[in-house]
Amino acid sequence: MDCVMTQLQITAFGGLSVLQLAPLLDKMPAEGEVRVRVCFAGVNPIDAKTRAGLSWAASQHKDALPWTPGFDAAGVVEQIGPGVTALQKGDRVCGMIGVPLRGGCYAESVIASEQELVKLDGVDLRQGAALPLAGLTAWQGLFEQGALQAGQRVLILAGAGGVGHLAVQFAHRAGAEVATTASHDNHGFLQRLGADLVVDYHQADWVAQIGQVDLVLDLMGGASAQAALACVKPNGRLVTVPTITAQQIKDAGAAADVNVVGMLVHPDRQQLAQMLALLRQGEVHTTVSGEFALADGALAHQSIEAGHVRGKILLRMPAADLVGA
Ligand SMILES: NC(=O)c1ccc[n+]([C@@H]2O[C@H](COP(=O)([O-])OP(=O)(O)OC[C@H]3O[C@@H](n4cnc5c(N)ncnc54)[C@H](OP(=O)(O)O)[C@@H]3O)[C@@H](O)[C@H]2O)c1
Repeated sequence: MDCVMTQLQITAFGGLSVLQLAPLLDKMPAEGEVRVRVCFAGVNPIDAKTRAGLSWAASQHKDALPWTPGFDAAGVVEQIGPGVTALQKGDRVCGMIGVPLRGGCYAESVIASEQELVKLDGVDLRQGAALPLAGLTAWQGLFEQGALQAGQRVLILAGAGGVGHLAVQFAHRAGAEVATTASHDNHGFLQRLGADLVVDYHQADWVAQIGQVDLVLDLMGGASAQAALACVKPNGRLVTVPTITAQQIKDAGAAADVNVVGMLVHPDRQQLAQMLALLRQGEVHTTVSGEFALADGALAHQSIEAGHVRGKILLRMPAADLVGA
């Protein structure tokens, strides 16, 4: 029999109050899918931008509300669909689910394709929920779009955030020299993650303090990204990650003769498995600085919209208590 659980969804775009609890009927997974009992869901800026009606995803959802946000989940497989071979009931898994549009992880259970999930195999559920979207963005930005090589110098704008704190660790581990920008309070945090140089972006001469780099991973967009164009060496590159200002930065790059590329994160099970292996080996850590009950999702959005989260914040579901997480 179907069991009624809870999800957090929107029926209209707007402020924090549009996030409302709603019943969720358990669905049966289709071919190649599983149903995951969610323990933790990751919160990402795209969730809040879409809730507010500001993202490309919002324009796609406008005639198809309600929408349940959330693209990151960690939990326990509770139902297997036909044709699923790599997962079993009871497996602890995490994944980036429903990208670029469907989402659905702000919920006590979610249907995911087998291809979107990786077994945690000993990695803690919180770490698993914090990793997928931010980790894949950092990895693809540095190594696919940025083609970062050992010995090169990289600038990561906004190193202390969800994507940034993972990018700092991945770039350091890959043998790059890492410069990053952050508020003064985050300097020790980023040095411990492997940053060679941390510059306070509140200082007027922060661009001069950075010097020249082969690659900028831009996690800020706007004026910060435009200023960072001056750091890019001839034949270097700036990868701009926030989509809302991407065209503006590309135009500024063209005017300054700097190669600027945009990106959209895409699912990649192999990359996710590689990153989880680094977590398992203790070579990379996710920082979770806040945990909110599903009913307090609005507070999580308020926090992410303020723009100064260190690492990641998560939504905690009742199932986390059941599995002792
Ligand atoms: N294109 C894609 O596929 C894709 C994928 C993922 C993310 N994104 C976008 O990428 C951006 C970053 O995502 P995220 O999850 O890392 O965001 P986030 O976790 O919300 O970033 C918060 C961090 O930004 C830092 N920050 C704020 N203002 C800053 C400034 N002027 N200079 C440097 N750092 C600053 C803060 O550090 P301090 O407290 O030290 O200021 C804070 O730690 C967002 O716009 C997101 O929507 C795009």
